[in-house]
Amino acid sequence: MIITIDGPAGAGKSTVAKRLARFLSEQTGKSFEYLDTGSMYRAVALFGLRRQMDWQMPGKVTALAESAVIDVVNGRTLLNGEDVTEAVRQPEVTEKSRFAADNPSVRQMMVALQRKIADRILAGHQCLVTEGRDQGTAVFPHAACRIFLTATPEERAKRRLGELQQQGRTDEFQEILQQITDRDNRDAARTVGPLREPEGAFRLVSDGMTIDEVVAEIAAHCRSVSASLTATGLSER
Ligand code: DC
Repeated sequence: MIITIDGPAGAGKSTVAKRLARFLSEQTGKSFEYLDTGSMYRAVALFGLRRQMDWQMPGKVTALAESAVIDVVNGRTLLNGEDVTEAVRQPEVTEKSRFAADNPSVRQMMVALQRKIADRILAGHQCLVTEGRDQGTAVFPHAACRIFLTATPEERAKRRLGELQQQGRTDEFQEILQQITDRDNRDAARTVGPLREPEGAFRLVSDGMTIDEVVAEIAAHCRSVSASLTATGLSER
């Protein structure tokens, strides 16, 4: 079974996807793997930063991605065999990752890689929870369970402000809200793999909900989808 979770930045997709995979593994006795597809675009950006990439040259960004060996194994992101799971979270990587994500050739490579990873997981009789922007629309449009997880820009800005305050920072709410709106616009405007709500997706607006509540709702939805697929004899993908 493949569960896709798409949605805008700051909607809590990573935390929810990770916890959902763990929760469903415990509840069903099947093993659910978690795939963070944003980390793959981030890995290209990290590689480019290390190589002093000229980001204004899309051909060079493509060649860079072609020369990188990226993989995600057991929730860890690997770049040329090095575990870069933490390294790709640095703010300068976040800033440059759009040059990878906006590049159609890089996207093609990452989509092929995401499908290969999914095949490997399913072949090992495991299930997959994958999250990103285009998972239920472009990469796995036939996934059994497609989720669109969102929250209002104000709610996402409020959460981000809270995280930054915990790090001792004193950012302005309006500035964070503007950054979130800019990222939403960029994600939606991308010519290849833009952020869209997948057709027939289960839509959840997480304003005012705890992570546990979100995970429980999504898990209940996926279990009912899985039960009805089994009852009708349709295969699960
Ligand atoms: O979700 P994130 O912040 O880790 O994503 C990093 C970048 O990759 C961001 O620019 C959005 C982009 N992305 C994408 O275009 N498609 C995906 N499936 C996942 C992320």
